[in-house]
Amino acid sequence: MREVIVAANWKMHTAPADAGALAVTIASRTRADGVTRVICPPFVCLGAVRDALAEADPSVAVGAQTIHHELAGAYTGETSAPMLAGLATWVIVGHSERRRDAGETDELIGRKLGRALDAGLRPILCVGEQLAEREAGRATEVVDGQLRGALGGHDPASCTTGGLVIAYEPVWAIGTGRNAFPDDAGVIAGIIREQLRSILGSEIGDGVRVLYGGSVNAANIKDFMAKKDIDGALVGGASLDPDQFAAIVRYRL
Ligand code: PGA
Repeated sequence: MREVIVAANWKMHTAPADAGALAVTIASRTRADGVTRVICPPFVCLGAVRDALAEADPSVAVGAQTIHHELAGAYTGETSAPMLAGLATWVIVGHSERRRDAGETDELIGRKLGRALDAGLRPILCVGEQLAEREAGRATEVVDGQLRGALGGHDPASCTTGGLVIAYEPVWAIGTGRNAFPDDAGVIAGIIREQLRSILGSEIGDGVRVLYGGSVNAANIKDFMAKKDIDGALVGGASLDPDQFAAIVRYRL
């Protein structure tokens, strides 16, 4: 059995004054055996969330939402992986909103992934097709290109040691309330598993956790988790609502 992971992506919500309290509420409501919980707040809230969780429930991990592909330099406004030491232990890489808004390419995302692994940050690599790509029957090909583009140059063993996680997030399902059909998502997760086996080797590919993301909520989580190759969820909107998020994390209870 692969561990179940439920990660909260708070995106550009919360502020240092309220993030710690929200994290504590979530932590206290989401205890569930066998589920790894991760909260990814905005950069400026990492310290507040870390401090609050260190006291309330250190078993909830803290993650960043992105990192820069260089270690240091003249990159105004950016944050590198080593700077997160002591603040976060996980990081989301290649989220579709960054591919869209910051022009992140697979090549760049691959470099970020390397930085995360080198810094000991557990990466959640996001992949997923746009609506037009899906309608053109290209979802599998797009996801394959994203995985190969980002994972290509890396030593497969470092992906295991670094605890690589993949989040399959069809772009048209993010923040739209229009979740993928669980059957479809299950099929793509299975294809991702095959692709991971082909890129990283079967043993390593089998161990990678594959999450589903895109309008996950209390009502649909069970259907996604029933799929053999889906090991958890990356949750946006519903992760800011402690009731919803608790029901997602405790879907088995
Ligand atoms: P959503 O976001 O749950 O609000 O659709 C998911 C994500 O972007 O990670």
